[in-house]
Amino acid sequence: MKTIIEPFRIKSVEPIHFTTAEQRADILKSAFFNPFLISSQDVIIDLLTDSGTSAMSSAQWAGIMMGDESYAGSPSFFRFEETVRGITGMPRVIPTHQGRASEKILFSITGGAGKVFLSNTLFDTTRANIEFSGAEGIDLICPEGLHPSIPAPFKGNIDLIRLETEIGRIGADCIPMVIITVTNNSGGGQPVSMANIRSAREICRRHGIPMYIDACRFAENAWFIKTREEGYADVPIPEIVREMFSYADGCTMSAKKDAFANIGGFLAMHDDNLAQECRNLLIITEGFPTYGGLAGRDLEAIAIGLQEVMEEPYLRYRTRTTEYLTQKLMEEGVPVMQPAGGHAVYLDAKAFLPKVHVDQYPGQALVCALYLQGGIRTVEIGSLMFGKYGSDGSLVPAALELVRLAIPRRVYTQSHIDYVAEVIIDTYHARHNIRGMRILEEAPLLRHFTAKLEPVG
Ligand code: F0G
Repeated sequence: MKTIIEPFRIKSVEPIHFTTAEQRADILKSAFFNPFLISSQDVIIDLLTDSGTSAMSSAQWAGIMMGDESYAGSPSFFRFEETVRGITGMPRVIPTHQGRASEKILFSITGGAGKVFLSNTLFDTTRANIEFSGAEGIDLICPEGLHPSIPAPFKGNIDLIRLETEIGRIGADCIPMVIITVTNNSGGGQPVSMANIRSAREICRRHGIPMYIDACRFAENAWFIKTREEGYADVPIPEIVREMFSYADGCTMSAKKDAFANIGGFLAMHDDNLAQECRNLLIITEGFPTYGGLAGRDLEAIAIGLQEVMEEPYLRYRTRTTEYLTQKLMEEGVPVMQPAGGHAVYLDAKAFLPKVHVDQYPGQALVCALYLQGGIRTVEIGSLMFGKYGSDGSLVPAALELVRLAIPRRVYTQSHIDYVAEVIIDTYHARHNIRGMRILEEAPLLRHFTAKLEPVG
């Protein structure tokens, strides 16, 4: 097989600013060992997120110029609406400025004290919005999803047996919806199979519980269904996508991921009454229903991006990038989640730094080490992000201690990825010098964004 090349040429470039290891040591210290607090100018390869960091296509930039900025009834909205309806089959389409705005609106209406949301895995903002409404969120990831080093094709699946038992325990009346996150970002960017979505749907239907999809990476999930699930090899991606959405009552979407947009999102659903309630809230928080917190030009860019993201040469190259990096790391024995996720590679920080105890945040220690070693910015998805405190004040750790290397869409080339592999491998060889972290200051919600830390000892 020949090299799978980037299916695009580069027309516009941005310079990378290089730093030395000595400079990075000072920068990291001034940022209190939290790379969210570092200026992006001080980062060589930025793998903090794949969100809003995509390179837009020439067609999207052309769409930007076509954007109609009318307050009400902009044709850009109608193009956006038609595209979202076509992809999801959902008639009610509500634009928002990003995914969490959709979440805030949806859970303000459906959440509240005493309610429980069940999911394969809730993303951090999704969980935070659910909890902020007074409700509770419970993750029911399948057993194979909890073992980073054991490969399986659909490690993002929801555990169907636990879904049944939790519904029995909690009572369907207290469960406003079940949320399937595709792909499962916090669980390693792992896909959810069509069979799993279909079965979850069937369980929800029997209990009269709506099922929603957190659709941020719907196209990547569809690609994994096409390449890994029996019966889908010859089905075109838009049809797979349509089938995935056909099982859902609604969806939340961040267009900053699988729509190649730098900002944007939406809510889509079948339920007219709920849509009306959402729009009422949209008007006071986001904007009029035909722009909802976005400019007309953003709506154009999203509509075009949503189509481009389903192109097979793109998805083949996209998933090859993470697979390529994962293979290089595995050859050197670096503990990495297997198989590769769709949008990111996840290092298993517990196995990478076995001597750093979970209450010293091995994931964050590794994030800092990678920045020092090569100016690579990554993010901890572990106990800094998801840890809680027990009644005795001790840390209740997250299920996994991961470090995510999220790959921006269409931004970095193969040599950038080679450099990333070299930096990680060098860090792995020097892992015995890496110290754990202690939190100095933290916020009550989403603490990882702003926490201040220092190395232990
Ligand atoms: N759901 C999932 C699965 C996500 O990954 C994200 C964002 C959101 C919802 C919220 O969307 O950022 O537009 O408000 N994930 C980004 C990330 C931030 O880095 O993974 P948003």
